[in-house]
Amino acid sequence: MADPGREELHNLVVQLRHFLAYQQRLGLAALPQGLRKERERPANAAPEISPTVVGAVLTLEAVRAELGNCQRCKLSRTRRHLVFGAGEPHARLVFIGEGPGEEEDLQGVPFVGAAGQLLDRLFDRLELKRQEVYITNIVKCRPPGNRNPEADEISACLPFLKKQLQAIQPRIICTLGRIATQVLLETAAPLSRIRGQWQKWQDIQVMPTFHPSYLLRFPAERKKTWEDMQKVMARYRSKNHGA
Ligand code: URA
Repeated sequence: MADPGREELHNLVVQLRHFLAYQQRLGLAALPQGLRKERERPANAAPEISPTVVGAVLTLEAVRAELGNCQRCKLSRTRRHLVFGAGEPHARLVFIGEGPGEEEDLQGVPFVGAAGQLLDRLFDRLELKRQEVYITNIVKCRPPGNRNPEADEISACLPFLKKQLQAIQPRIICTLGRIATQVLLETAAPLSRIRGQWQKWQDIQVMPTFHPSYLLRFPAERKKTWEDMQKVMARYRSKNHGA
């Protein structure tokens, strides 16, 4: 989006939509107390709970709001939309890609281009719905020309991915491709060595696998991703969800 005013407005609308959806999920039909006039509150009322932080638990809405109309790195200068992430806010399974491509940048939604369509086909075969998982990326804005994200861009964005994971608290993370895997796991290990083997990030089980864009270029590798996903699904469908 070339016009910064329009982008700011767009981001405000996105934040408001997240906030209202969150209120709805809490079962609130009216505005929360924090938005009422101060004088309406009785003098001896208990302290108010922030609408985005319940019991000191971080929410995705709070993370999105903190990101705001992010200008923390140079990707903000060329992006059309910031692509925060999409899916179930308390998903047990999270997919992490590298960064938005052209179509994602246009729509503001992760994995909606050619790679996303392949991911959708994989989900269909696994009988997994997009709405039950959460999908996001290492960097939230498109690197120009789909180049790899650079170190300064990753370090500006990574705290927000970590906060997203803290808010979602998934049981399983599936990293898609070398960059997502190496960045999250803070490793230089080649993807070919650790792909298909359970890793850990904090207390969360992580399965590194190939990026769908790579599978578009090398279809013969799809079988390996299928095998990796069988491991993910076995854990995901197990009674204790891999805890
Ligand atoms: N590739 C990614 O890594 N992420 C997307 O959202 C789309 C393509």
